[in-house]
Amino acid sequence: MQVFAAIARTCFPALLGGCMLLMPAAAAEEAADVATGTRLAEFLRAARSVLSNYQPLINDPSVGDKHLDGERFTTEAIAFYAKRTGHPLITDDLSERDRKLIQAQIEAMREVVDEQQADINRPGIGFKGFVPAVFARLMNEKFAAKVGAEALVRVTAPEDLVRNRKSLPDAWESGVIENVFSDADRPKGDSYTEVTTVDDRPAFRMLLPEYYTESCLTCHGAPKGEIDVTGYPKEGGKAGDLGGAISIVLFK
Ligand code: HEC
Repeated sequence: MQVFAAIARTCFPALLGGCMLLMPAAAAEEAADVATGTRLAEFLRAARSVLSNYQPLINDPSVGDKHLDGERFTTEAIAFYAKRTGHPLITDDLSERDRKLIQAQIEAMREVVDEQQADINRPGIGFKGFVPAVFARLMNEKFAAKVGAEALVRVTAPEDLVRNRKSLPDAWESGVIENVFSDADRPKGDSYTEVTTVDDRPAFRMLLPEYYTESCLTCHGAPKGEIDVTGYPKEGGKAGDLGGAISIVLFK
């Protein structure tokens, strides 16, 4: 991977022995960061899927109390994560950092769902605008408020597709989208990682591409420019197109 190659390049000619000692530690650290970033991204995806499955219930005007509070939601998201990934979200071998970050993500999710209760349970209203993308953004904002000095999770997109300005890509994210994800020879779905800086602080960064599926196209599909149910103009996307990316920052 990127980090690995950079280390090998900088120290290989100078001091072979030193590098051999350095590599395993760096590799172990990178593997841990990749695992942490992947876990945060996959749990966000699980939460969005649970919310997506509940859209018909949430948007049912004939039902008042939906009995879908933060406690039930987080329990189901944790179970969904385990089912989708094949392993539990929280395991005994998690580091202190991982435990803290996952706990913050669970709490952020719980708080967002609890704060939406009045809207979710309002009878007589159909579509409520509490769609997975909005939920994910609110959850990521709360996550940043809790542990933003250590880690950040965002969902961004190619600049020309961005709906909410808060989700605009930064220079690094745009660079990866334009120069790496655009490479047709690159296996679809592969994430990109790099050790760099964010706000002048050293950080591990990870970008995970997200592609439109058929279910996204009622809002992001054709015809381009037509207003969707949420009030935004559709992007004219097709199934399989790059629709966005989950961006993870782990400060060193
Ligand atoms: C019901 C309409 C709807 C559907 C279906 C939908 N989205 Fe969105 N999407 C939105 C809205 C609204 C926003 C802006 C959310 C906000 O305010 O942050 C958004 C935002 C996004 C963003 C964040 C960047 C931005 O534009 O602000 C990405 C990435 C994204 N959607 C991808 C997808 C993908 C992938 C799917 C299918 C799995 C999907 N969306 C399904 C309505 C939808």
